[in-house]
Amino acid sequence: MNYRILVLPGDGVGPEVAAEAIKVLNKTAEIHQFQLHFDYALIGGAAYDALGTPLPKETLSLCRGVDAVLLGAIGGPKWDQLSSTLRPEAALLGIRAHLGLYANLRPARVSASLINASPLKREVVEGVDLLIVRELAGGIYYGTPRGMVEDGANKTGINTEIYSTFEVERIAQVAFRLAQKRRGKVTSVDKANVLESSQLWREIVTRVGKDFPEITLDHLYVDNCAMQLVTNPRRFDVILTNNMFGDILSDEAAVITGSIGMLPSASLGNSMALYEPVHGSAPDIAGKGIANPLATILSAAMLVEQSLKRPEAARCIESAVERVLNEGYRTADIATPGQATVGTLQMGDLVVERL
Ligand code: IPM
Ligand code: MN
Repeated sequence: MNYRILVLPGDGVGPEVAAEAIKVLNKTAEIHQFQLHFDYALIGGAAYDALGTPLPKETLSLCRGVDAVLLGAIGGPKWDQLSSTLRPEAALLGIRAHLGLYANLRPARVSASLINASPLKREVVEGVDLLIVRELAGGIYYGTPRGMVEDGANKTGINTEIYSTFEVERIAQVAFRLAQKRRGKVTSVDKANVLESSQLWREIVTRVGKDFPEITLDHLYVDNCAMQLVTNPRRFDVILTNNMFGDILSDEAAVITGSIGMLPSASLGNSMALYEPVHGSAPDIAGKGIANPLATILSAAMLVEQSLKRPEAARCIESAVERVLNEGYRTADIATPGQATVGTLQMGDLVVERL
C-alpha cells in the first residue's frame, strides 16, 4: 500500500516537532510494510513571509489527492500586528473550512509515569482518559455578521455564535459513535442557560442521543464543566462541545496530563483529515531544539489509525511513546525540577528505537 501525506510544518517549533513525527512515520511504514510519500507546503507566518499570504493556493491544491495532512504549528509575535485575514491563525481556520473538517478529536490520557508532571494532585488525575469532541467548522469562529465597526471614537467588535440543526447533528453522531468504542458516556457541554445557540445544541444532542440508547448522556454548562475538569476529571469519557468551548476546555484538559506538549488532535471531515498537536508554535522556545515532539508523534499515530486504517501500527507508536516515558526520558516541559532532560531530536530518536 502506498499513501501520500501532505506536511505543513508552519511556524515556531512546528518544523522541529513535525520532523520527529515524520521520522516515526517512516519507521512505522518500514515495520508495517507500507509506503509513505511526503509532500511539503507552506502555511501560516512562513507562507506569509514567502508569498504574502498565510494560506497559499498551492497549499490548498496540494491537499487534493493526499491521504492526510500533518501540521506542525502556526503563529508567532512576528505576525501579530497583521490584519486578521493575513494572520497565521486565518490559515488554520481557512484550511479547516476548505477541507470541511468539522470534527476535532482531542484525547487527553494521563500516562502513569507522568502523573508527577501534572500540577494537580495524583488522586485527582490518576487514570484520567477522556476525549474532547470539538465542533470545528462553525460557531463563533465562523459566524456572521462579524467585523469591526467604527463610529467616531467608538469602535464595536462583532462576532456571532451560530449553530444550525445539521451542524449539531453530525458532530453529535461522531461523539456518540466514539463513545460506543470507549466507556459509553457522552457529556455535552453548552451554555443553554444563556444562549439560544446552546439551547438548540442541547435539543439536537438529546435527540441524536435517542438513537444511541446504550450511551449515557448528560449535559453540563461550560462553567461547571471547566470546574469539574480539574476537580473530578475521571468523571468524563467523551466531552461533546462547540468550537469555542472546545478550544478553551482542551487547553484546560492538557493541564491534567502534565503538559500541552503531550496532546494530539485529529480534525476530520467527510473526505479529508488533518492531524496536529494541540499546542501552538511556542515562539519562546523555537529553534532551541527543546520542544516536546510527543504531541505531534501521537497525532501521527492518530493519522495512522484514522486515515491509513492501521490501528495496530498506531498502537505500536503509542506503546513506544509510553515506553520512552516509563524509562524516564523527559523533555523540559514534562520534567520535574532537577530531572535530566532530552531535546526534541533525541526524544524522536528514542521513540523510533522503541518502535
Ligand atoms: C487550536 C488553536 C486555534 C483555534 C487557533 C490557533 C486558531 O488555538 O487549534 O486550539 O483556536 O482553534
Ligand atoms: Mn486552542
